[in-house]
Amino acid sequence: MQGNREEFSSRLGFLLAATGSAVGLGNVWGFPTNTADNGGAAFVAVYFVLAFALAYPALMAELVIGRHTRANICTALQQISPPGTGRKMAGFAGFYAIIVASAILVFYTLVAGWMLAWLIAAVCTAIGLGDMATWFASSSLWRDILCAGIFAVFTVAVVSSGVHHGIERWSSRLLPSLLALLLALIAYVLFQPGALEGLRVYLVPDLSRLLEPQLLVSAMGQAFFSLSLGVGTMLVYGSYLSKDENLPAIGAMVTAVDCLVAFLAGLLIIPAMFVAQQLGITIYAGDALIAGPDLIFQVLPALFESMGLAGIVIAIAFFALMSMAALTSSISILEVPVALAVEKTPFTRPRASWMIGSAIFVGTVLVSVFFDRLFGWVVTVTTQYSQPLMGIALCLFAGWAMNRNQLLAEIRSGYDNVENSVFWKIWPFYVRLICPLLIAATFIQSVFL
Ligand code: PFF
Repeated sequence: MQGNREEFSSRLGFLLAATGSAVGLGNVWGFPTNTADNGGAAFVAVYFVLAFALAYPALMAELVIGRHTRANICTALQQISPPGTGRKMAGFAGFYAIIVASAILVFYTLVAGWMLAWLIAAVCTAIGLGDMATWFASSSLWRDILCAGIFAVFTVAVVSSGVHHGIERWSSRLLPSLLALLLALIAYVLFQPGALEGLRVYLVPDLSRLLEPQLLVSAMGQAFFSLSLGVGTMLVYGSYLSKDENLPAIGAMVTAVDCLVAFLAGLLIIPAMFVAQQLGITIYAGDALIAGPDLIFQVLPALFESMGLAGIVIAIAFFALMSMAALTSSISILEVPVALAVEKTPFTRPRASWMIGSAIFVGTVLVSVFFDRLFGWVVTVTTQYSQPLMGIALCLFAGWAMNRNQLLAEIRSGYDNVENSVFWKIWPFYVRLICPLLIAATFIQSVFL
């Protein structure tokens, strides 16, 4: 391991980076889409409960292990495991998490490239380059590879500059800009005709759907993806966190801001769909609201187009928002394998970042070429299966491999009176048993649905 390990420079720096990782396409696209798919507000309510009941304790498990061991995920899990077979298995679990993180980045880069393509298209429209705008707004293999490539270069450039000068600096710039854009867009859309109907669909729950198994499963998957759990991102970020910080409070803040941004994104997208409906754009496919790529790349662009000049500005703002959200997340994913390489091989950070980034980009090209066969498969295996399973594993590592004294000492550092807190009375037991069981129950249901 390196002697002088980097740290985030301040609590705010960590908060912006960790929240930047959490806030991404999952919030701005996944959450509103899932909401549209699963009966509106009923999904929103269940999501918030699960985010705090399941995802927050699992996030704490990652932060505690990371800060305690101050290492990449493989070394971290090995360090807290007993010698022998246990340690070997821990190494495998860590390596599996790194593979899953890399596979997530493979498809995330492709989707982020689509956002960038639409951003470039909107800018081309604004400056009168009509043909170019049409090229960037029409899907093609070359467009996808070009834009994913540009996005990958941004991601690698940030990570290769280091934790403080790269990740923290860029998250601190991008996250506030993203929030400002989101609020401005909401303010605009909510005053358009039709928006109130969208608000009603978003905020009035259809209680009959509240306990549908499919809704629970989608909400859990969404919460794990959105909080970047189960692949070591939060563990690695936690390993760069100062011993003076109060972990339970910081974890709660990250969870709360992530939920808030998801909620705000819903406040933008669902009303925007009903504004589009007023303008004659189809927003239902059968009984259900249009979701998935058609929502982002057909319904919303049609809405922007029908708004004339204002629509061009709004399209630029919207796709810039999407691209920024994607970048603060993709850098956190790339950091997972890069941390391992920097600590375990003689490669420097820039070299490790460019090499791993290139290998992942090769994966992105393969997924673009064999899109129909590979894309859905990679998304399902990583997000639906691997993230919850590794989430369970990381809870078990924190709950069973670390003993109570180690846990207490880690959490006490930065939180003096923790023994008397509600958190300490509940969490250690919860993360050992209840949380893994609840995740497993929901997961099993999803497999046998
Ligand atoms: N949390 C990100 C989002 O909501 O888009 C996605 C993500 C980031 C998933 C980092 C996994 C990860 F390790």
